[in-house]
Amino acid sequence: MPKTHTRFVCQQCGRVSASYMGKCPQCGSFNSMVEEIVHDEPVSKGATANVRGLTGRSQPRPIGEIGGEGEDRIPLPIGEFARVLGGGIVPGSIVLVAGDPGIGKSTLMLQMAMGMAEKKRVLYVSGEESERQIKMRATRLTSTVGVQQDEQSINSTVGAQQDDQSHKALRSSAVPLPKNLLLVTETNLEVILNHVNDIKPDLLIVDSIQTVYLSELDSSAGSVSQVRECASQLRELAKSSGISIFLIGHVTKEGAIAGPRVLEHIVDTVLYLEGDRFQAYRLLRSVKNRFGATSEVGVFEMRERGLIEVTNPSEAFLEERMINAPGSSIAVAMEGTRPILVEIQGLTSPTQFGNARRTPNGVDFNRLLLIAAVLTRRVGLKLSEQDVFVNVVGGIQIDEPAADLAVAAAIASSWKDIAIRAEAVLIGEIGLAGELRMPGQMQARLREAAKLGFKCAIVPKAIHKGEPWPKGIEIIEARSVSQALDEAFAIQRKPANNK
Ligand SMILES: Nc1ncnc2c1ncn2[C@@H]1O[C@H](COP(=O)(O)OP(=O)(O)OP(=O)(O)O)[C@@H](O)[C@H]1O
Ligand SMILES: [Mg+2]
Ligand SMILES: [Zn+2]
Repeated sequence: MPKTHTRFVCQQCGRVSASYMGKCPQCGSFNSMVEEIVHDEPVSKGATANVRGLTGRSQPRPIGEIGGEGEDRIPLPIGEFARVLGGGIVPGSIVLVAGDPGIGKSTLMLQMAMGMAEKKRVLYVSGEESERQIKMRATRLTSTVGVQQDEQSINSTVGAQQDDQSHKALRSSAVPLPKNLLLVTETNLEVILNHVNDIKPDLLIVDSIQTVYLSELDSSAGSVSQVRECASQLRELAKSSGISIFLIGHVTKEGAIAGPRVLEHIVDTVLYLEGDRFQAYRLLRSVKNRFGATSEVGVFEMRERGLIEVTNPSEAFLEERMINAPGSSIAVAMEGTRPILVEIQGLTSPTQFGNARRTPNGVDFNRLLLIAAVLTRRVGLKLSEQDVFVNVVGGIQIDEPAADLAVAAAIASSWKDIAIRAEAVLIGEIGLAGELRMPGQMQARLREAAKLGFKCAIVPKAIHKGEPWPKGIEIIEARSVSQALDEAFAIQRKPANNK
């Protein structure tokens, strides 16, 4: 029996310390040290030996002899998902899909699993939901009328397993669910690896990495040592067997992936599924990708039948727009390489408690402070006794300064109670002097605006290099915010206002 003792491990970065510390000396997080029991005997050796036994050893080879110029990607049935991954699933890659609770991670993964199972063998391991729950979700996703009441007809075959861990093949008479999608509820990683060995899937989905554990480690599932060790073993499995693995990961209140930051280093690709939980739109964003650009974004809408691809997000975001209403403007934001038109709403209202508030929803708070200050000082709007609210319609977050001008215009429009020209988009970054700066990728932005039928674009005046402006849209150049606003309202203002 090996002796045990305890140690303290930072749940953020994995720093180990013999005694408790309120602040982690490595990453600076507070109260992130958690006590874990360790055996004196090193455990990781045995653990990795197991996996090596499963997968065989690797041999160094000359680079020229290594097969696969340009990885063959497995095509994905969900176009928006494929786009974010960089064109498809790379065999042997390991992808982390993270997001807030209830945002739709399991839904997205199940949809992908069902699509992939048409051609490939897929194993979906859940540590969070029962097979029946997942089956019900699958039924809902494939049906047009919602959940069907065929619970009795869940026709499962219990595989011969040594313990009570049952492995069920999913079959149903009512809905044509793919035969090649296998479900199992399991959290013990050794058992999961055995299942993988038996089934030999092309694709493995683990929902979620925080629920799986290795029995050799004494810390509980979700702790930094468990998450790190389990993820490393899964990576080893992916690299040596060519199985593509998707891990679902939770995020903390602060928005970071729960558990260790090292998790992000272990995987090849990190995707975030984000959006406002009370709104239908979801963005799938890649923040790290060893096989593609990190700037790509996929847009989905959460419906009864799951996450539906939104192939033309601009159109969707502008659907409910009220034309000629004061306090509304159109910004052209870049999500990766893709321009997206969104409606920005502004509202000013006399402050009640003497302390004017600035409430952004979908734009950065500090950015809003700056824009409000510029509107007050450089444009002459009296906002100091006004509460200012800004909302990006559709529940998406815009962190681009290129949307500054549209935000300013929405606020000014509400304050003046005059609508902005309905056929105009506004693009431009605002500087402290009230000047406008040219953002990047103007061509793509203007083309998208023209495509959606906008007649003119109000943009910063700058020495114009490179390609001429795209045809089909009138370009109105403005040096300053106040000039741009004059154009946006298309009414004459006294020029003496710029104090
Ligand atoms: N019948 C339904 N019709 C429409 N939407 C539904 C329905 N049932 C669930 N949803 C949506 O699916 C969401 C839950 O999705 P899902 O379970 O995939 O999220 P998750 O990210 O995996 O959550 P968790 O972190 O709890 O595992 C709910 O928040 C809800 O918006
Ligand atoms: Mg889930
Ligand atoms: Zn730390």
